[in-house]
Parts: sequence; structure tokens; C-alpha cells
Amino acid sequence: MKEKIYIGVAWPYANGSLHLGHIAGCYLPADIFARYSRMKGKDVLMVSGSDEHGTPITITADKEKTTPQVIVDRYHKEHIQNMKQMGISFDLFTRTTTKNHEKLVQDIFLTLYKKGHIYKKSIEAFYCNNCNRFLPDRYIEGNCPNCGSQNARGDQCDECGKLLDPQDLLNVKCKICGSTPEIRNSDHLFFALSKFEDKLLSWIKDKKHWKPSVLKFTKNWLENGLQDRAITRDMEWGTKVPIEGFDDKRIYVWFDAVIGYLSASKEWSDKQGKPDQWEKWWKDPKALHYYFLAKDNIPFHTLIWPSILMGYNDKLNLAYDIPANEYLRLKGEQFSKSRGIAIWVPDIIKNFDVDAVRYYLSINMPENKDTDWLWDDFVAKNNDELVGAYGNFVHRVVTFTQKNFGKIPKLSTLDKLDKEALEKIKETSKEISGYLDKFEFKKGLRTAMTLAQFGNFYFDQKQPWVLVKNDKEACGSVLHICLKIIKALSVFMVPFLPFSSDKIWCLLGEKGSIHDKTWDVAFDDLQTGFELESPQPLFKKLDIKDIIETEEDPFSKVDLRVAKVIDVKDHPEADKLYMLHLDLGKLGKRVIVAGMKPYYTPEEITGKSIVVVVNLKPVKIRGVTSNGMLLAAEDSKGVVALLNPGDSIPGSKVVVKGVAKKPASVLEFEDFKKIKLVVDEFGKATYNKKVLCAEKTDVISDKPVEKGAKIL
Ligand code: MF3
Ligand code: ZN
Repeated sequence: MKEKIYIGVAWPYANGSLHLGHIAGCYLPADIFARYSRMKGKDVLMVSGSDEHGTPITITADKEKTTPQVIVDRYHKEHIQNMKQMGISFDLFTRTTTKNHEKLVQDIFLTLYKKGHIYKKSIEAFYCNNCNRFLPDRYIEGNCPNCGSQNARGDQCDECGKLLDPQDLLNVKCKICGSTPEIRNSDHLFFALSKFEDKLLSWIKDKKHWKPSVLKFTKNWLENGLQDRAITRDMEWGTKVPIEGFDDKRIYVWFDAVIGYLSASKEWSDKQGKPDQWEKWWKDPKALHYYFLAKDNIPFHTLIWPSILMGYNDKLNLAYDIPANEYLRLKGEQFSKSRGIAIWVPDIIKNFDVDAVRYYLSINMPENKDTDWLWDDFVAKNNDELVGAYGNFVHRVVTFTQKNFGKIPKLSTLDKLDKEALEKIKETSKEISGYLDKFEFKKGLRTAMTLAQFGNFYFDQKQPWVLVKNDKEACGSVLHICLKIIKALSVFMVPFLPFSSDKIWCLLGEKGSIHDKTWDVAFDDLQTGFELESPQPLFKKLDIKDIIETEEDPFSKVDLRVAKVIDVKDHPEADKLYMLHLDLGKLGKRVIVAGMKPYYTPEEITGKSIVVVVNLKPVKIRGVTSNGMLLAAEDSKGVVALLNPGDSIPGSKVVVKGVAKKPASVLEFEDFKKIKLVVDEFGKATYNKKVLCAEKTDVISDKPVEKGAKIL
């Protein structure tokens, strides 16, 4: 019987699109491992689904003034499509709002309750008098008691990763209205995590094969002592609590979501028409369980989920390994939906080949430390490695063979280098397996790439373009060996580059899909005599210029224009504000309010050319509507200077080279705030080290300010 392998992958919240941080953090590594394991003859069951409950969903629904159901339906549909497009080969990708899931969650909840692992306790909870409601975890914000970070949520601090209880937070505010909530008593149900300490300690004793970071994190937790955790929340969206007296509460999203690992396995079995099938993965101790997730999810998978399982039914398999990844960052910052720092999967799919994206994410995977997505590095690795080494080898060999032989030629006598080439295929296979068994995906892919490089070296050494003229048989044999290398590569690349591997498979006249084959077909004979077709290149070169256009740079949303100040008046209600009458050329005239009074006299400003954001949402400032905002720099000594666009005509644009302009019709101030403009050492206004240019000149600071002075 085939060895069984279970792969559970963290369930993404259905409150927004997937981004590349998600893919690099868990879906791609899980998929690489799943595809590899299948080829090694394992019977893999890989499941996940949309995490559709909890405050992340309701907060998004509140923001969009719609219902949670609308939100989860939208993003679940998108997740399913994106997973498929990225080639993530789930056996089932479901959701936590199914009946099947609800039934199991309630069953586990009740069982734990009856066994005394869940108990009732009255706690002090935050209640907002303004909103007339209790505030569950993500509805409160405050300072983290552990690291001091200012926007820790009620359930976890994103900065240091510590799990929190709302009561732990300092300086608490209601996230809906910003007021300070009061404390009221309320009954909640607690999971007795502390009771599982000893069992967990002995369970992790033989987990020496875990990644050091995961083991260390988990041991730290255990050493600090486990605390019981509230697993009900004051809200209306979520799985209902199957115990009387909790009608106005729901089961905590994390308790709910991890159970998805088991409920999805059952759903998959039902869909196979074999309702007991899941037991083969969950009850046979020889079936190994792997969980893929990014580092912020570690405690839920190494401590909480195992405890729930232990408490529920001691016959169910626990994790064998949890090879959590670190983060993929963008420009040195963590991908973050709320801060608009992300590369979205729906966008990346529109603009690039999936295998090119998978290649860069794999070769740059945050296995042991955070890594950065860098666009120029993506282009360089795509062009030099994927296209330059691998794609080029396949292309030159197949094209040359097709042109000179028409079909796959046969092998003849082997010399030393030929034997070395065939040996190299075997060695590479072993080496890659060794790495993939240890989740060292980067090294695995590097090793496969060295085989492609060797292929190019072999081709160049043998000079088939010379041989073809004087020894056609020998030439055919060389090409045969090259094609054998290509066939092997197509197999070794399956886990990383599934789409192009299948194309090569077909190109070589092999039957069926490569995804139904085993690893060892890499060494099988070629279809000698198969008529080749002249191939299309497997991968495309990229140009960094195209990418700057595709990347949604936040700066592209801003509409900056040159304005001439026609007139300056004091604001009737405020002693630091002016009302400026501006001429914006073709855009007409308008009034803005600006806090320049302490720094410039009306005479100094009148007649000046300045830079203005013209597409900001108009705001009332002390009774006067401001239709835009001027840009000025302020340094650490408090010197304030207007920006000077030279004598460009009013209404003309201010741009940054390489960022295409797609101004939003109305720009939210929050979005504008994300754009960091500073003055450089030459007094020029810059965005991301690129100078702001007006029609004729660069934009400079009107007075000397320190380098790095912030512009707002
Ligand atoms: N939705 C969670 C997140 O995005 C992950 C849930 S993983 C599971 O952080 F274990 F709960 F399934
Ligand atoms: Zn409130």
C-alpha cells in the first residue's frame, strides 16, 4: 500500500485578495512538497480552505457597509480561482462556512466541554458605550504589553507575534469609534490549554527534525507556561456555541479554523463517495502529517491544534512536521493589506507567466529568514536563469534536433563526457531528493538549475553544429543525451514549475500528463524516432520598464500640479491658517486652506508657484472647504519650506520618472499619507530616491532644509 501523507495548509482569511506573501509563506512550499511527494509514490491528501469567520471578516464588511456573507462569497471564489491559476494542487480547498464544518466544530466543542477541557468563566471584557456593544479582539487596539508596539490587536500583536488577551492591552481604544471602552463582566468559555502542557512537552520530545526556529518558538511558549484561552467572542458572525446561555456569542475564529484540517478531510472523503476514507490519513499512525504556514501562525499549529486533538480523541494523528516559513517582504516591509504594501495574486497572474513567478518565489523563498521581493532581481533571475540557462538549453536542443534530424535520434557509443552526463542525471536526482525531503526548496531548485547549466556546457563542448557536418551519427547521439537531460529536468522541475514541465513532456512525445508520473520516469528511455515539432520558447524575457508600468505604485494615484498663488487671506477662524486662491491653468481656480502663516507672510507667498495635490477629497477646515493641499517640507529643526516647481505653467503636471500616472478620481487622505516624500541632499524633492520633475525643472525646496526633511 502507498504511504499516506497529509498536508494541511493555513487557511487564508476571506476578507481580501491573496498576495505573494501568502504564496511564498505557505501555499507554494506546500505545493512543492505535495507534487514532489506524489511523484515519489506517496498518497497525498492536501487540504485547506477560506477562513470565513472572525473579526477580520466582520471588520471588512463594516468598512464596506455590507454583510460578512457578501465579503466571504467574493473572496472565497477569488481564492479558489487564484489557487488554481498559481498551480497549487489542493485535493480540496473548501471554506469554514459549510454545514459539515459547523457540525464537526460543534461536536469537538461539546466533547471537550463534557470532558472538562472547556469551562465557563466570567471575565472583564471591553464594552463600548458609544457603539453599545462588547468589543471582541480585533475591535480593540492598544499598546502591546510585550513589545510596546502601538497598534496591537486584542488577539495578537503583529509586531512581536505574541498572542494576547484583550485585557492585556494597554491604552485601549474602540476600533470602530476611537473612544475608550469601559470594562464589564461577561461569561465566556475557556479552553484549558494549561492542562495539556505535560502531554505537549512529551509530544515534542521526538521532534528534533523540526526547523530550529519552530522548535525554539514552541519550547519558549511551553517554558513560559501555557494559559487557558477564551474561545468564545461577543459577535453574531461565526459558528454558534452549542451550549446554552451563549446565544449572543460565537466560537473564536482560531478554534473554529484549525478544525478545518479535519473537517476538510471528511468533506473530501464524502466527495469521493467513500465517507471513511479520511481515517486512512488520520487514524493510521504511519500516515505522516505536515502543516505549512508562515511564522505568525506557529503557536496555533504547534500547541493549540494539537491540544484540541489530544483532548478530543487520542486516536487521531498529530503533526509530524511543521516547516513554517518566515516572511516575504516588499521593499523591506512586511506585506500588509491594511497598509497597501502588497503584490496581489490577481494582478501578478494578469501580467506574468505563473512559472516565472513560482521560479522567483522558490529561489528566493523565506525558508529560514525573511526575504525581499525585488522587481529588478525578479527580472534578472527570470532573464539570466530561467530564460538564459534552462529555457535556452531546452530551446536550442529541441530546435537544432528538429531542424537536422526531424525526430529524436538514437544513442550510439558513449565517450567519457557522455557517461558523465548520464551519471549527472542520477546524481542530480539524488541530491534534489535529499533537499526536498528536508524542505530545503531553494537548494533543490538550485541543484536542478545546475543540471541545466551542465546541459549547456555539454552541448557547447560537443559542438553538434560541427559534428552534424562530418559525423551525423555521433551528432545524433549527443542530441539524444541532451534530450535525456531535458526529460530529466522536466521531472525534477515539476514541483517548482509544473506548467512548463508538462509542456516539455508533451514536446518529447511522452504520453499523458507528467503530473501522473513518478520521479523515476526521469531515467526512462526517450521515445526515439518521435517526430519533433519546432518549439515555442518556454519562458519570456522581461523588461524592467514594463514592470514599473504594471506595479501599482501608490504614487501613480496622486495628481500633483503646479499652481500659482493669486491671493492670500487669513482664515477667519484660525490664527495659523491661510486661505490661498490658486490659479491651476486649465483646471481653473480654486481655494485651499494651508497652515503656512507661522512660516510665510502673505507678501512672500503671493505670486509664487507651488505644488498642490489636486485630487484629494475636499475637506472642511474650520468651516472653510479646502480643495487640495499644498506640499511643503519640514525638517527636524522645524524649518518649513514650500516646494518650488520653477516657472512651469499653472496646471502642468509634476511627475516622477518611471511611475505612470493613473490618478484616482478622488484620493483618500489615508492613501496620500502612505507616500513618503523627502528632500535630498541637493534640496530636491524626491519619492523613493527619484526626483520630482515639473515641466521644465526639478522640484526644489524653496528654502534650505536638512537632508531627509519630510514633505507633506
Ligand atoms: N486565517 C489565518 C491567517 O490568515 C490562518 C488560519 S490557519 C488555520 O492568519 F489553522 F486556522 F487553519
Ligand atoms: Zn466604539
